[in-house]
Amino acid sequence: MPSFDPVSVRADFPILSREIDGKPLVYLDNGATTQKPRCVIDSMSRFFSRENANIHRGVHYLSREATDAYEKARESLKEALRVPASHELLFVRGATEAINLVTHCLAGELHEGDEIVLTIMEHHANIVPWQVLAKERGLRLRFAGLRDNGELDLEEWRSLFNERTRVAAFTHVSNVLGTRNPVGDMTAYARKRGVLTLVDGAQALPHGPVDLGAVGSDFYVFSGHKVYAPDGVGALCGPRDFLNAAPPYQTGGDMIEQVSIEGTTFRAVPERFEAGTPNISGAIGLAEAFRYMAGIDWPAAHAHEEELAAHATRELEKIPGIRVFGKAPDKVAIVSFLYAAAHPHDVGTILDTEGVAIRVGHHCAQPLMQYLEVPATARASFTFYNNHDDVEIFLRAMKKVVRFFG
Ligand code: ALA
Repeated sequence: MPSFDPVSVRADFPILSREIDGKPLVYLDNGATTQKPRCVIDSMSRFFSRENANIHRGVHYLSREATDAYEKARESLKEALRVPASHELLFVRGATEAINLVTHCLAGELHEGDEIVLTIMEHHANIVPWQVLAKERGLRLRFAGLRDNGELDLEEWRSLFNERTRVAAFTHVSNVLGTRNPVGDMTAYARKRGVLTLVDGAQALPHGPVDLGAVGSDFYVFSGHKVYAPDGVGALCGPRDFLNAAPPYQTGGDMIEQVSIEGTTFRAVPERFEAGTPNISGAIGLAEAFRYMAGIDWPAAHAHEEELAAHATRELEKIPGIRVFGKAPDKVAIVSFLYAAAHPHDVGTILDTEGVAIRVGHHCAQPLMQYLEVPATARASFTFYNNHDDVEIFLRAMKKVVRFFG
């Protein structure tokens, strides 16, 4: 039975008991990367202590065991994400590699004048690969803007579709504003028009389970390190037929059927897109993180993290000169703000002296910063293992910022 006890989940994450210069660590940079529960750390340590071998290529016991663990990791992730039977899950380095892989696969399908619909709230990983592709193939990128509360302007987004639209790529949750987009409605709208969809799930999955059948996108991508799993591993879910027909992204061992000096034939997915030795331990850690998340009562965890973010927002807004960005009714616990009296870097530096870790800067979303007409913001991003003490220490540290600059 899934459960949620804020005290015991916190104890699952060894790093959270660290002190920074004698002060308790207050980790509010979960949007950049999340901490890892002991079971994930142990699963990787167990793999290296007992099972480590290369996969898909050894007749010996350890290789069989490692192959089994790697493929079981794939199967358990497909189950957790309810990946439709028509789709396959590929292990990649993270969301960035997944999107680059998709743009590579699509290159031959797109022609001069074709259009791709993006949103202004994308982070660079879901902009730059499309820009590069657009330049190579003569495509037009179109960006939908936002409403004042930080929601996507869906009317504008829909109005960007026309007979030249081939792809719509959008984030499930904004890494700056926390806005949760209505991805199911968006993919349905695109599908009716024969437009392929890619959903960037990097900031959604840390806040609870996602059913890819309900999302309904052609492609869904995410990074392991943002979902309590190791870095250097992530996944791309995409249509098996499309991927089997697409040109390989990288070539080498494990993805080949037959190699001769005249040429090579390639395997089907998933191996087709997993050239070379993959991140075996990372895949195992990723599957373990999903197993851990399956034990969480998410409605209770949501209520907890939302309460923390709402309290932080309310108190921040009492400080003269603070502006909080992103007030969408459906948002995750991300609080981006700007303090008129100090640059976000100075805010972050002072908070750091109190053991409080936040992210400051453009958050790999410079077009969004330009759209909001700000150079940068400070961002406190919460998750289920944060607690009221974290919020109080953060707010006390903000008072120090105000004493210094106010
Ligand atoms: N996109 C990551 C963040 O928001 C890196 O911090």
